[in-house]
Order: sequence, then C-alpha cells, then structure tokens
Amino acid sequence: MAQDVHCIIGASGQLGTEMALSLKSAGERVVLMDIKPPSFEGILDLPFEQVDVCDAARLASALGENGITHVYHLAAALSARGEQDPQWAWNLNMKGLLNVLEIAAGHVPLARVFWPSSIAVFGPESGRTAAQSGPRIPGTVYGISKNAGEHWCAWYHRQHGVDVRSVRYPGLIGTLAPPGGGTTDYAVEVFDHLEGPEPYRCFLDAHEKLPMMHMDDAVGAAMQILSVPRERLTTPEAYNIAALSFCPAELFAEIRRHVPGFKYECIPDYRQDIAAGWPDDLDDALARADWDWNPTVDLSDLVDTMVKARHSNQPLSPAL
Ligand SMILES: NC(=O)c1ccc[n+]([C@@H]2O[C@H](COP(=O)([O-])OP(=O)(O)OC[C@H]3O[C@@H](n4cnc5c(N)ncnc54)[C@H](O)[C@@H]3O)[C@@H](O)[C@H]2O)c1
Repeated sequence: MAQDVHCIIGASGQLGTEMALSLKSAGERVVLMDIKPPSFEGILDLPFEQVDVCDAARLASALGENGITHVYHLAAALSARGEQDPQWAWNLNMKGLLNVLEIAAGHVPLARVFWPSSIAVFGPESGRTAAQSGPRIPGTVYGISKNAGEHWCAWYHRQHGVDVRSVRYPGLIGTLAPPGGGTTDYAVEVFDHLEGPEPYRCFLDAHEKLPMMHMDDAVGAAMQILSVPRERLTTPEAYNIAALSFCPAELFAEIRRHVPGFKYECIPDYRQDIAAGWPDDLDDALARADWDWNPTVDLSDLVDTMVKARHSNQPLSPAL
C-alpha cells in the first residue's frame, strides 16, 4: 500500500512549524506549503512548495503532483490582524478553506483534511465556560470566518463525503516560531522579555482569563483526531478542546517563580476588547469521550519549558 503523504498548508507559521517538526520526527512523508518559505532550521530539509492557498489551480496541481493524501490546512488570518484588515482576513480564511474542501471533494481526492477552528467562534452569550454546542455569536471577522468554516466543513462532509476534521483551539504557546497576530500572542511574546531592563508591556488586562494550550498538546490533538476511525466522531462541529485557563497575572506569577526579577505592566489595547468577548474556558467533555482527548502540559510545565527554551534559543518575536 502507498505511504500517506502529509501536506501542511501554512507550514511557515506558528503551528505549522511545530506540526512539520512533529511529522518529520515521526518519520512521516511531509510536504510543506506556504506563501512564504519556512525559517526554522529543523524543517528546512523538508520539501517546500511556495503556494498561495487562494490560487485554486496552483494549489490543486501542487497537491496532485506531490501525491498528497492528508492535508493540514493552517493558513489563516488571525484575530487581531483580521480586525485591522477585515476584507483580507475574510478572503484568505474563506477562499483558502473552500479551495481545500473543493479539491478534497473533486480533482484530487484527499483521504483526510485537518482544519482548525478557534475559541473565537464564541462570544459573550457563550458564557464563561463555553459548551460544545452552545450559542456561537462571534464578535470578530476571524471568529465569523471560523464559525462559517465549521458549517462549510460539515456541508462538504455531508454532501461530498469529504473527511474533514476540526478542533476549536485555544491560544497556542510554543517555542519554534513567532505568533502570527492573535489576541493571545502575549503569552508567547512575554518569554522574549524575561530579563530586559524595561518591564514587559502586556496588551491585555492583568485579569483577562482565557483558554490556552501548549503546542505539544495542540499538535497531539491534530494527530489524534486525524487518526481515529471516522465513526467515533459524533458531531459535525469542530470539537472544543481545553488544556489551561489563566490570566496574564497568573502566567506572570508563575514566570516569577522561575525568573524572580521579571517585571511587567498591563496596558490594554484593542485586543483586550476581543479577549473580553471570549470564554475563560471550554467544556471539552465530548472530545474526551469521542476520541480520548487528554492534554498533558500544565501551567508549571509550560512555563518551565518556555523559560528553558528562551535561555537556550534565539528570541522568537521582534522587539515590541
Ligand atoms: N496560534 C493560535 O493561538 C491559534 C489559536 C486558535 C486557532 N489557530 C488556528 O491555527 C491555524 C494556524 O495558526 P498559526 O498561529 O500557525 O498562524 P500563523 O499566522 O503563525 O501562520 C499562518 C501561516 O499561513 C501562511 N499564509 C498566509 N496567507 C497565505 C496564503 N494566501 N497562502 C498560503 N499560506 C499563507 C503565513 O505565511 C503563515 O506562515 C490557523 O487556522 C489559526 O486560525 C491558531
């Protein structure tokens, strides 16, 4: 039987870089695609195709020529950047997804597609702990696109049998690549400002609690949901997955246990308004029941890993 060939679209981004390294380490065949080349050294030896996911013809030929069977479609405009350029964000998020789904349904039949949704599908009506199938009235262009994307995925599965699977990611925290313009980016950026002369300036309110997750769990969730038999998935929606829930003050207190001199100040900007509309936590009981979702990294492990990585690596994010 021919070996599966995995393709990451958006492979040069924060999640794509981690996903690429993980698939490579697992010995999988993997082809990277992105509009810009990857920069993390550990994945530069993997095949790379420069592809604009909005260019349907180029995308179809790149997937076909490389014999791709599994797609991780990660290219997207994130929440904060999306609010600053709504037309660009809507076009990228919707056209990119529809191109992938259309290709999966037709010209290049794909075995499986992973496409992440987000906690941004929720709004104030969802409550502090968002239920799997509770109200979803998103307040950002990004959230609207993710909500619509969930419906499109369900439609393509129902009408065309496309095996697309999805989770609602919280804010993701990892060491390999800088974040791409989301509302939870502070929780990655801060690790580049642990010991500077100036306090780290956080753009959220000190007590703004949000759902968060370490990259190891985020990548693990994608691999896990993509590998289970389809019959185990009982909802057409993206699955809520939860790991951590903390506010800046709690994260910074944990950082101080590792770096006693760490200083910060919170000066909320427009991103605080976005964060205020999101839940503190997610009810992920369905993911736990259907495909044994079970996160592994707690806040203390996360901070420990990030501080050690920052002490041994180049900084990730540009100076603020
Ligand atoms: N990072 C998070 O905290 C988070 C949280 C929830 C959901 N997600 C979702 O996970 C996915 C990956 O997020 P990320 O944080 O890695 O984003 P990112 O911004 O770091 O990376 C996105 C990548 O897509 C590429 N890209 C942009 N336009 C493209 C185009 N037209 N064609 C091809 N590639 C293009 C970019 O060059 C970039 O490398 C997204 O769908 C995002 O919505 C991320």
